[in-house]
Amino acid sequence: MKTPEIVHSIANLHARVGAWRKNGARVGMVPTMGALHEGHLSLVRETQSRADKVVASIFVNPAQFAPHEDFDRYPRTLETDAEKLAGVGLDLIFAPSVAEMYPAGFATKIDVGGPSLGLETDFRPHFFGGVATVVTKLLTATLPDVAVFGEKDYQQLMVIKRLTVDLNLPVEIVGAPIIREADGLAMSSRNAYLKPDERAVAGRMNVVLNDAVARLKHGDAVDQVEAFGKSDLLEAGFNSVDYVAVRDAATLERIARLDRPARILAAAKIGGTRLIDNMAA
Ligand code: PAJ
Repeated sequence: MKTPEIVHSIANLHARVGAWRKNGARVGMVPTMGALHEGHLSLVRETQSRADKVVASIFVNPAQFAPHEDFDRYPRTLETDAEKLAGVGLDLIFAPSVAEMYPAGFATKIDVGGPSLGLETDFRPHFFGGVATVVTKLLTATLPDVAVFGEKDYQQLMVIKRLTVDLNLPVEIVGAPIIREADGLAMSSRNAYLKPDERAVAGRMNVVLNDAVARLKHGDAVDQVEAFGKSDLLEAGFNSVDYVAVRDAATLERIARLDRPARILAAAKIGGTRLIDNMAA
């Protein structure tokens, strides 16, 4: 299949998307940081079912990495990414440089409250400021009718829904289901960091979350389910657990009991790798 065209500048992105729009096309977008796997490709397919033309962005966003995090070693595989995107019939790749997204003098930050508070923010306080700022820029540079994000990063999805409503961005935000490996491990570009013994442990996270959902549905108290989840992860071989938390599925506020749609979210470290996952409850 034909490799999709790659544009690196916002000016060229405008030209391509503008031409589509002039022809009456409905435009869809899938923001990514590359190192693409089946999870990302499922978002492209979901977007294709909702739009005539689809652009995927590939940009490893420095603003969402803390200085001690893996920005430098994050995998950058534009060529194979483009081949994978050709395989699903994507129309256009937007792959800007850091200087294109953050030119000299750049001084704006989008600061979302609400669903940003707690969970990831307790451990990666810089994270959602960086995500919200770059996603706002990607959406305003492209102005898609619809943009699709994975439930894999559930808190991120809720933050992006919040910011598009709050900023009146005329784009529909759609969440797509988590794509998993055969043993249930949520696919992630960071799984590539796992050594074989760590990979085996990583596959336990979804089992622990499944058990926690069963306990909740059985009527166990939220506090108890969270505490069991943490000790189960440690027992499975994770080195440390940042959180196992049961939250309101829409607002991510704490809940005392399972009396509304909820989500159980977890983050834990194994070796030097931090994994996150979540499930509906
Ligand atoms: P990245 O981690 O590359 O993920 C891009 C999109 O793919 C996100 O919407 C993420 O939730 C989704 N995704 C990742 N793994 C998935 C899986 N196993 N199943 C379904 N969807 C999955 O998330 C980011 O990049 C960045 O923060 C970004 C939004 C691009 C802003 O820089």
